[in-house]
Amino acid sequence: MKYNFDQSINRLNTGSVKWDEVGNVFGDKDVLPMWVADMDFKSPQPVIDALQKRVEHGIYGYTSRTESYYEATIDWMNKRHKWAIEKDWICFSPGIVPALSLIVQSYTKPGDKIIIQPPVYYPFTSVVENNGREVVHNPLQLKDNNYVMDFDDLKQKIDPAVKMIIISSPHNPVGRVWTKDELITLGEICLEHNILVVSDEIHFDLVYKDRKHTPFAAISEEFAQNSIICTAPSKTFNLAGLQISNVIIPNKELREPFTKAIESNFISMTGTFGVVALESAYRYGEEWLDQLIDYLQGNLDFLKSYFESNIPEIKVIQPESTYLVWLDCRELGLNEKELEQFMLKEAKVAFNAGYTFGIGGEGFMRVNIACPRAILEEGLKRIQAAIKKL
Ligand SMILES: Cc1ncc(COP(=O)(O)O)c(C=O)c1O
Repeated sequence: MKYNFDQSINRLNTGSVKWDEVGNVFGDKDVLPMWVADMDFKSPQPVIDALQKRVEHGIYGYTSRTESYYEATIDWMNKRHKWAIEKDWICFSPGIVPALSLIVQSYTKPGDKIIIQPPVYYPFTSVVENNGREVVHNPLQLKDNNYVMDFDDLKQKIDPAVKMIIISSPHNPVGRVWTKDELITLGEICLEHNILVVSDEIHFDLVYKDRKHTPFAAISEEFAQNSIICTAPSKTFNLAGLQISNVIIPNKELREPFTKAIESNFISMTGTFGVVALESAYRYGEEWLDQLIDYLQGNLDFLKSYFESNIPEIKVIQPESTYLVWLDCRELGLNEKELEQFMLKEAKVAFNAGYTFGIGGEGFMRVNIACPRAILEEGLKRIQAAIKKL
C-alpha cells in the first residue's frame, strides 16, 4: 500500500497537545505548532484496522499482554535491530518518562549522582531532580557541526556517588545515532566504575537510511547485564496517546526492583488499545515505516536546502535519526529569550527553545519536521519573512 504523508489532517479539537494546547503553552494560538514530538500523520493502516476491530468488540475490560504481544515485540527487535531478546526481559511501562522516574527511584538513593549528556531531552533533568538525586552534566561537544560524547570530561566527573547514566540513543535533540564504538567506550567506562547505563532508545526505529542503530544491550553480555533499555512504538508509529512502552531488562536481579516499582505504584495494568496497537504495528507496520522514513528524508532535504538558499544565517545540524531537527541560530545574534520570542512573535512558529534542553542549548531551536511538506514550507517561509525584517 502506498501511504500519502502529504495529506493534511486537521488535528484541532482532538485534545492534541501539539495543536490544541499551543495557545496555552506559547501564549498565542496562531503560531504554527512544530514542537512536541508527535507526528501529523496517521498511523499505519493495519494499526487503525486492528484498533477498529477491537473497538467493535465493545468490551474494554482489564487487559493483559498476550503471548502474541510478546512474540511481536521479540520479532521486531530481531528483524529491525538484530537484537535477540527474551520474553522475561520485557517489562511494561505506560511511558518512558514514568519508567525513567521509577528507574531513578529503584536503583539510586537520594543524594546519589546521575549523569546526563546535555543538550538533552529536558525530562532527563526532572526525573533526576524531582527524585532528590543530583544531576551531573557531561555535555556533548559540537565539533565540525557534529555532536560527540566527551569521554575525558565523563571520566573526570565520575566519583563514588555517581551510580547511573541516562543516555538518549539515538539522541534527542541533536539527532546522533551513536556508533557501536562510541557506545563501547561509554559502556566500558561505566562497567569499570559500576555505573548503571539507562539507555533511552525510544527513537531507535526512526533512523535515516545510511545509519544503523545499535541497541546498547546487544553489544555484549556484560553490557546487557549492566543496562536498562527503554523502547516503545510510540515515536515510531505515532502512538504516544496510547500509553504503551517496553522496558527491556536482561539482568534478572535488576529486573525485580523495576517490576516491583511498577506494581507497587499500581500502574501495571495495560490499556486495551495500546496492547492492540503495539502488536499490530510491530507485526504489520514495517511497510509504512519504510515509507515514513523516505518521506522524512525528503522533508529533511527540503528543510536543509531551504535554509541554505534562503536563510543561511541558520545552520541545520544534520540529524542521523528522529524527526526533530536541531537548528543552530547563533548567527542571528539573539540571546536565548530574544530568539524564543523572535520565533514566536515575529515568525509565528512554535519550536522548542534550545536552552530548555540544558547546557549547550542556548542559541539553538528544535523543530519537528513530522508534518506534511506544505506545513513545513509554511513554517520556513514564516521564518524567512521574519528574518528579512530583523
Ligand atoms: C528521548 C525521549 N524519551 C522519552 C520521550 C517520551 O516518552 P513517553 O511519552 O513514553 O513518556 C521522548 C519524547 O519526545 C523522548 O524524546
